[in-house]
Amino acid sequence: MKKRKQGNTIFLSIAFNHHDSNVALSIDDVIVASLELERLFRAKKISASITHMEIAARFLLEKFNFTISDVDYLVVNALNNPFENSTSEEDIRENEYAFLGRNIPTFILRHHLAHAGHYYFSNFSKALIASCDGGGDLGERVVYFIGDNLTIQRLLVNIDDHISTKPYGQFASYLYGEPFSEGKLMGLAGLSFKVSDVMLKLVSEVFPRLKNVDFVYGQTLLKNIFKSEQNLAKKDPLSCASLASAIQSEFVKRRVQDIKKVYRTKYENIVLCGGSALNLGCNSKIFEDVTKSIYISPNCDDTGIAIGQIAIIIAKEIGKRPRCKLPYLGINESSQQFELTKKGKEKIFEIENEPQKIAMRLSQDEIGICHIGRAEVGPRALGHRSFLISPLQILNKERISVEIKQRESYRPVAPIILEEDLQLYFQGGPARSPYMMFNYIANEEAQEKIPAVVHTDGTSRVQTVNKDDESFLRQILTEFKKITGIGVLINTSLNLNRQPITNFVYDTFEIARKINAKLFICSRYEDI
Ligand SMILES: [Fe+2]
Repeated sequence: MKKRKQGNTIFLSIAFNHHDSNVALSIDDVIVASLELERLFRAKKISASITHMEIAARFLLEKFNFTISDVDYLVVNALNNPFENSTSEEDIRENEYAFLGRNIPTFILRHHLAHAGHYYFSNFSKALIASCDGGGDLGERVVYFIGDNLTIQRLLVNIDDHISTKPYGQFASYLYGEPFSEGKLMGLAGLSFKVSDVMLKLVSEVFPRLKNVDFVYGQTLLKNIFKSEQNLAKKDPLSCASLASAIQSEFVKRRVQDIKKVYRTKYENIVLCGGSALNLGCNSKIFEDVTKSIYISPNCDDTGIAIGQIAIIIAKEIGKRPRCKLPYLGINESSQQFELTKKGKEKIFEIENEPQKIAMRLSQDEIGICHIGRAEVGPRALGHRSFLISPLQILNKERISVEIKQRESYRPVAPIILEEDLQLYFQGGPARSPYMMFNYIANEEAQEKIPAVVHTDGTSRVQTVNKDDESFLRQILTEFKKITGIGVLINTSLNLNRQPITNFVYDTFEIARKINAKLFICSRYEDI
């Protein structure tokens, strides 16, 4: 537990958003923790009320032995801000808000500037920052900035023709009959069905028409053009796989064109942020066609707003580049709660903490429930709250993805790999991919030896574990390689259908109980 020292500056950052609300805390120039509220309240994609946010913020402060009186400034996102309705065009402004019973000096930041704050976590001293998603305050969806050492400035470019993720989201909602279906559509597109020129042309014509319309109008427009495809992806996915491919390819084509227009040859480095940066096919195309020097945070989408905006304020007010040890910034229960929850569980589960034993059991096709240290931030499981399972048998993909997680059979599962072994199996992406943000082409060796992690289109969304990493996770991979000759495992998020990823050990035990799993992989308790 850290206690505030005399002279420390404490920022508490809260982001309500329309979905994926989150909080973060910094002490001087260090961002020490972040929490997505869906993990605390066990409600996927929650858009928080002030009460939700106060509960989460109090929990976060108490972990560091702080109270609201210790907070110097509140940092709040302008989007979906419940404290006031403002149409201010200022990127950063100041006010005073009542929160947790105190009036606190507050910085209010516009949404895309908060996304852009992730520039500070790259190792670039200068970069083009491209933020793009389906929303933003004042209708803003695509914004470019220049990061130059400590400053981030808006880039004044004509973005009238630039495409956001809004058309993609409209199509996804239309095909699946529910919001937040973009990931499923991406998986369906990967089935790589042949797309006719007529389909491509039609999608290309519809895309710009969906750019600035509201949800209801967009859905009506799609119903008039694609009558029989409404909600079809749920009932009969194969029959709309080629449409999904056309939508994915149209988005990638337009996004790459837009970035090229701004990029030209002026900037060596790019930081991608906003929800669009979760489109791995698009990231890989930018890597292929625009620049090899790309940074994407693990929480590049709205789950990273609280961290991004606190980074902006640290740079502005403290005058230092913010520091933040991504991605394991989650908050744990107390050690007493952790031990109390574990007590007696060894009668039901086999709780393993020896990498060699864990690897042996994984090599025998057991499903591992993995709960290590502090949770990763963002939508991707990066090995701390994950199911781990051997990729050697193709059936293991179906066991974990379809039977246990009840996901659609066409959705891929990801490999986690020792970084030095990357090129044995995969080509076409960066030499390191710690946050699972790029698609790689799986070679013949991968197709033959680790078929469970190769998608139908021959790609894999790879997470690499660095050579210098001495983590428990790396030890498991290393031991697995000693036994099987292959330093790769399936790593998929520790959640069941429509649930958030787990955070606390209680939630992880609940999953193990529901699926009747025996192998519970657990490192020693880690504070905060
Ligand atoms: Fe966003």
